[in-house]
Amino acid sequence: MKIGILGFGNMGAAMGERLKLKYQIFVFDKDVDKTKECAGITVDKSLEELANCANALILAIKPQDFEKSLEEIKKHEQMYLIISIAAGITTSFIEARLGKKAVIRAMPNLPAKVGEGMICITKGKYATDIDLSFVQGLFNRLGKTLIVEERLMDAVTAVSGSGPGFLYELINNIPRAEWDKFIKEEFVPKLSYAGMQVGFTAEQAKLLAETTAQGSMSLLHQSKTSAAILKVRVTSPGGTTEAGLSALKGKVENLELAVRVALKRSEELSRK
Ligand SMILES: NC(=O)c1ccc[n+]([C@@H]2O[C@H](COP(=O)([O-])OP(=O)(O)OC[C@H]3O[C@@H](n4cnc5c(N)ncnc54)[C@H](OP(=O)(O)O)[C@@H]3O)[C@@H](O)[C@H]2O)c1
Repeated sequence: MKIGILGFGNMGAAMGERLKLKYQIFVFDKDVDKTKECAGITVDKSLEELANCANALILAIKPQDFEKSLEEIKKHEQMYLIISIAAGITTSFIEARLGKKAVIRAMPNLPAKVGEGMICITKGKYATDIDLSFVQGLFNRLGKTLIVEERLMDAVTAVSGSGPGFLYELINNIPRAEWDKFIKEEFVPKLSYAGMQVGFTAEQAKLLAETTAQGSMSLLHQSKTSAAILKVRVTSPGGTTEAGLSALKGKVENLELAVRVALKRSEELSRK
């Protein structure tokens, strides 16, 4: 399978760099500076060129860029599988614009950059179980994967998507020597509990909480920066992490509330 990536920003680049070790990767980003240095990946000059050479396409563009790109993608019949990682864009939104196409939706979190992400995956109406397991194989290269029902995708955004921002905020107030104990005894149990309150089973919630905590710490160690700076990087203005942080107020006791507020924000953004 030849894999195309549309958009080579934070997530597209993280995916391309990891997937190129196993797959043939093609990429197009309208900002040519982003694809200047990407050894081992074929850089295309347009979405049309990309759609002509790939049979699976990862949409790693912002939600607001979807409508226009889907119009172009619709013209390319040979494009077999569409994989979207955009927050708040449903499989039915994509199917409504592309017709009976196999669509898979995935929600990675930022630690995917260092191969320790938590990635939840769901399939659209026309995708098969074989498509789903193929995509799960792709995302296994970026961290741990979990197949969930699509109705849980906003909850995924609130727990594993915003979780890194919550953790960075909380450890920022704690001496470094106490981080491990805090994460094991406070953060993970409370994030797991919050996950169960927003719809996950106990087992799913534990996986999401543990993987999010571990991945966030690996990202922190490997990025050689502070928790405060990483917190700012993972907090987009008006997004779910920002909303959750306003409820968290730097206190782990507020984690469940923070997750609920992030979920509400994710649902609002999805409705837009
Ligand atoms: N960052 C995360 O942690 C994270 C986690 C989970 C999911 N996501 C999802 O991943 C997607 C990408 O996020 P990101 O943070 O990687 O965004 P990003 O850094 O802004 O990257 C998107 C890239 O796509 C380019 N682009 C936009 N429209 C295009 C088009 N029609 N053709 C070609 N290139 C196009 C953008 O160029 P310009 O800058 O010139 O517009 C930009 O370089 C979003 O939908 C987001 O919801 C992100």
